[in-house]
Amino acid sequence: MNHTEGGAVPNASGAAGPVPQNPLRDPRDRRLPRIAGPSGLVIFGVTGDLSKKKLIPAVYDLANRGLLPPGFALIGFGRRKWRHAEFAEFARDCAREKCRTPFREDVWDQLAAGLRFVTGTFDADEGFDQLSEQLAALESERGTAGNYAFYLSIPPDDFPIVCRQLDRTGCTRGPEGSWRRVVIEKPFGHDLESARELNAVVGAVFPEDSVFRIDHYLGKETVQNILALRFANQLFEPVWNANHVDHVQITMAEDIGLGGRAGYYDGIGAARDVIQNHLIQLMALVAMEEPTDFSAAALRAEKTKVLESTSLALPVSETAARGQYARGWQGSENVVGLKEEEGYDPSSTTETYAAITLEVHNRRWAGVPFYLRTGKRLGRRVTEIAVVFRRAPHLPFDATMTQELGQNALVIRVQPDEGVTLRFGSKVPGTAMEVRDVNMDFAYGEAFTESSPEAYERLILDVLLGEPSLFPVSREVELSWMLLDPVLEEWESQGTPEQYPAGTWGPKGADEILARTGRAWRRP
Ligand code: BG6
Repeated sequence: MNHTEGGAVPNASGAAGPVPQNPLRDPRDRRLPRIAGPSGLVIFGVTGDLSKKKLIPAVYDLANRGLLPPGFALIGFGRRKWRHAEFAEFARDCAREKCRTPFREDVWDQLAAGLRFVTGTFDADEGFDQLSEQLAALESERGTAGNYAFYLSIPPDDFPIVCRQLDRTGCTRGPEGSWRRVVIEKPFGHDLESARELNAVVGAVFPEDSVFRIDHYLGKETVQNILALRFANQLFEPVWNANHVDHVQITMAEDIGLGGRAGYYDGIGAARDVIQNHLIQLMALVAMEEPTDFSAAALRAEKTKVLESTSLALPVSETAARGQYARGWQGSENVVGLKEEEGYDPSSTTETYAAITLEVHNRRWAGVPFYLRTGKRLGRRVTEIAVVFRRAPHLPFDATMTQELGQNALVIRVQPDEGVTLRFGSKVPGTAMEVRDVNMDFAYGEAFTESSPEAYERLILDVLLGEPSLFPVSREVELSWMLLDPVLEEWESQGTPEQYPAGTWGPKGADEILARTGRAWRRP
């Protein structure tokens, strides 16, 4: 696999200094910094929230780390009648406010020299004609070599027209030897049918290997560590199966509400927003078999295979639950319920909490439920994967001695307190034999001095490098919708979801899913 376009490591001159070249190191060594070759990034939806908070700051951080080529170009496309300098000012504010690494004027100045803005609307040809001219001009002005990625940070309803326009103006095809790629933000459709339509629309103008579907959870360091934990160690894999695992809980809890996001969220809901993509991807990484190597093809093949063996546990009325947050206390703050949030119809049936149960039909996982849950305005912000083990088959203690002994668990703490916890029983010091749960912790902050890059830094760099491992293929997206569609259909016919007070751990219906089999959700 190439780590840079064309195989050579270009010199990243500029503020962060040139990249040291060590002739003794093998250029295929994956520990070498991977630096993007000559290229540019076009962002549609450049004034939107995602672009302001994540994309532009990530581009700055990449530049600051010396991972972008010196002639990199960032092109914003939007309705505003901005000159390049006005866009540069806007982008500077975004970068300054949200960058992860220190903001340095010299780095910014070098990046700003490659910033351009094209005014246009999706339904008018003019803007796209100008974009096409701009891209050609940047080849000589900045040396982009005609390599461009188009980032569609726009509603999926606009994908068809933008793809058509890019195709009409020839933006999808660069000069000989160059590449053109498209980056798609979720949601990838509304259900299986619309996802297939979207895949077809995009596929009509970009070949599948040029399509990069962003699931930003896959860009997180702790998520990539799932594979290291499982496949670089001897300790865990022997017990990673139905003989030892009782069940798996995957939780993505948020404490924030949805004020200000009505335009996107109303009518979408928690299951489509988070379970269809982030949580099902996490589940696939936990459940998949060992890939033959770490190539994109091998990883995607294993994820696809395990998703093909997965089904929704039925009946939905007993294995899934949804809820909507009502007024309540978030810490010391009294917060409003969804129906009172600005922009929401008081009769909105959009769920802000969703939980489902999945089953994997293979020898490794037969009989092990995978519980997935996500919600807004819950007790606290936490994303974790808990692999909960069976109880020991026999305990040679009096029942009173082990009253406070739970089940062993391995918890991958995805965020915010990144790390891994192993929970097991231990003797309480003293003359009596009493066994209680204790935790053994690995914390990123303590074990490593390096700080983790933001997910979008990693993913944007991978797009420019043409490294597709962390991007789901269309089949994975379609399989996820197949799992979710029956739940969504059933919920649609059921009116308003159960209400749960803000600051709690969700609707009672979700507790009942696990209680039916004598289990309980973790309270992280
Ligand atoms: C996004 C969802 O994909 O992920 C948001 O659309 C959610 O609703 C966000 O808030 C959470 O991302 P993170 O990285 O903060 O966990």
